[in-house]
Amino acid sequence: MKKHVMDLSVTENTSLNANYFLLKLTSAQKLPDMLPGQFVEIKVEGSPNTFLRRPISINNYIAETNELWLLVQKVGDGTRTLGKLQAGDTLNLVFPLGNSFTTPENASKSVVLVGGGVGTAPMLFWGKYLKERGITPNFLLGARSEADLLQLDEFRKYGNVYTTTEDGSHGEKGYVTQHSILQNQQFDHIYTCGPKPMMVAVAKYAKAKDISCEVSLENTMACGFGVCLCCVENTVNGHVCVCTEGPVFNIKDLQWQI
Ligand SMILES: Cc1cc2nc3c(=O)[nH]c(=O)nc-3n(C[C@H](O)[C@H](O)[C@H](O)COP(=O)(O)OP(=O)(O)OC[C@H]3O[C@@H](n4cnc5c(N)ncnc54)[C@H](O)[C@@H]3O)c2cc1C
Ligand code: FES
Repeated sequence: MKKHVMDLSVTENTSLNANYFLLKLTSAQKLPDMLPGQFVEIKVEGSPNTFLRRPISINNYIAETNELWLLVQKVGDGTRTLGKLQAGDTLNLVFPLGNSFTTPENASKSVVLVGGGVGTAPMLFWGKYLKERGITPNFLLGARSEADLLQLDEFRKYGNVYTTTEDGSHGEKGYVTQHSILQNQQFDHIYTCGPKPMMVAVAKYAKAKDISCEVSLENTMACGFGVCLCCVENTVNGHVCVCTEGPVFNIKDLQWQI
């Protein structure tokens, strides 16, 4: 898929809580096609210590209106600077990067999309994409507490939403892997993105139940197109760049201890 370098306009920057914000970017030109699981690399202007672009998942893409949405967590200088953007500002992106989730061949298959923390970001676009193809996804979203559960109304547009919080303030108390739907329902496919320990736990569950499972890795990246080698992951095919061979992998291909 061809990569583009484009300036997009910031049309909204909505603070969702102290740590997260949602950017709506638009373009006067037609945006290139994008697939769920892919990401963008953002040039961060006005942040003297942020030399390299920052990778952010595509949270939503609306082709008809040339809209691209990004859900961002403030963790360091780069993302904090992005949090200060205002409507009318311009952002330079390289996109779309990476591979995408695999759509089940049969629309009758039952799927669960498991997101933890900012790992819920790519799951919205993925769930919307599945719904448009006749598959109603189950979303299992986990956070520390209710305040960190984001975009629930958006997720509800496309599928069934289940939540867990570590403090029990929303949904079932505990980790996503402890949620009762994983004990009580049968799934054919699991897709997950979030902190690595969470993804490993989901992968263990999938392996034990013999369910196909894809994980979206968030290895630290710099160039985003296979040159700097800072994002490598050990797989059954040797060390590969997550930015070009991933970020989505089937767990069968990873050398994880699961
Ligand atoms: C494919 C991919 C998709 C991503 N999607 C999103 C997204 O949709 N929304 C979002 O908010 N973030 C996402 N991230 C993570 C995001 O890229 C980092 O949080 C960001 O680059 C940090 O930049 P910074 O300048 O703010 O912080 P830095 O100053 O670079 O780092 C601050 C702290 O964050 C840690 N950190 C930096 N990068 C990562 C990373 N990739 N994973 C875990 N910890 C990191 C550092 O170790 C450091 O402790 C994604 C990462 C990848 C690789
Ligand atoms: S980020 Fe440079 S090779 Fe992957």
